Amino acid sequence: MSKVYERIKKCLECFKERIDFTPDIGLVLGSGLGDYAEGIKIVSTLDYKDIEGFPVSTVLGHKGRFVFGYVGNVKVVIMQGRVHYYEGYKMEDVVLPIRLMKMMGAKILFLTNAAGGVNFDFHAGDLMLISDQICMAPSPLIGENPDELGVRFPDMSNIYNKELREIVRQTAKRLEIPLQEGVYIQLTGPNYESPAEIRMVRTLGADAVGMSTACEAIAANHCGLKVVGISCISNMACGITDKPLTHAEVQETADRTAPLFKKLVTESIIALAEKL
Ligand code: HPA
Repeated sequence: MSKVYERIKKCLECFKERIDFTPDIGLVLGSGLGDYAEGIKIVSTLDYKDIEGFPVSTVLGHKGRFVFGYVGNVKVVIMQGRVHYYEGYKMEDVVLPIRLMKMMGAKILFLTNAAGGVNFDFHAGDLMLISDQICMAPSPLIGENPDELGVRFPDMSNIYNKELREIVRQTAKRLEIPLQEGVYIQLTGPNYESPAEIRMVRTLGADAVGMSTACEAIAANHCGLKVVGISCISNMACGITDKPLTHAEVQETADRTAPLFKKLVTESIIALAEKL
């Protein structure tokens, strides 16, 4: 058994000892969506710190726990707080929760985040369906391959599942929620980018920039989870306006957009579950 797999298996046993629940969809909550989990029908919760070997996030305002419950009739596991590479964790730690959710039984992974708008057509407060990604952080698959989870050289031609994306698109249309679409680029952070870096990532084809998500999507594809992702454009990226960027601004816009974002997430989960 690979060491990576062995470690996650221990986390899984820890979960199974406490909770009898098989989720169908895993949801990762980004900035602004943190309290989404409190609005669902909660069956149980599990603090990250109570799972042996589980990386615990250090970012202020990020709650660290899994919430298990129902969105409509759909069984979900929600990550209230994620682990970021910029906190100093190894990539293996950053994606451990994703792999764990797969081993809990999830088939679809729904990723959300706050991101800076790189595309000039975007505005702060927009929602963006992630169509594809560029991962400028190290691949989470570097190192010994956990063969139990996936192959050494996995395909990445459909990271954000085409069929599931169409469902989210249709859901947004039905709810009359405007939805941008574009490529997400993950940089390591934690500093925001320079104006030159934003020009660079625009040239590379990115529409939005952030510090999470892409590595999680790679690990998810590797282990056979189907992925969808939505970014809240919490600010226009550096250099587009003259205003310096602050975490407070990012948080404020994400909070303001949250009601619409939550509605889209809820209705998308219900629609996506029909594909299970
Ligand atoms: N850059 C990187 N990450 C972010 C940003 C940004 O402008 N906004 C929210 N997360």
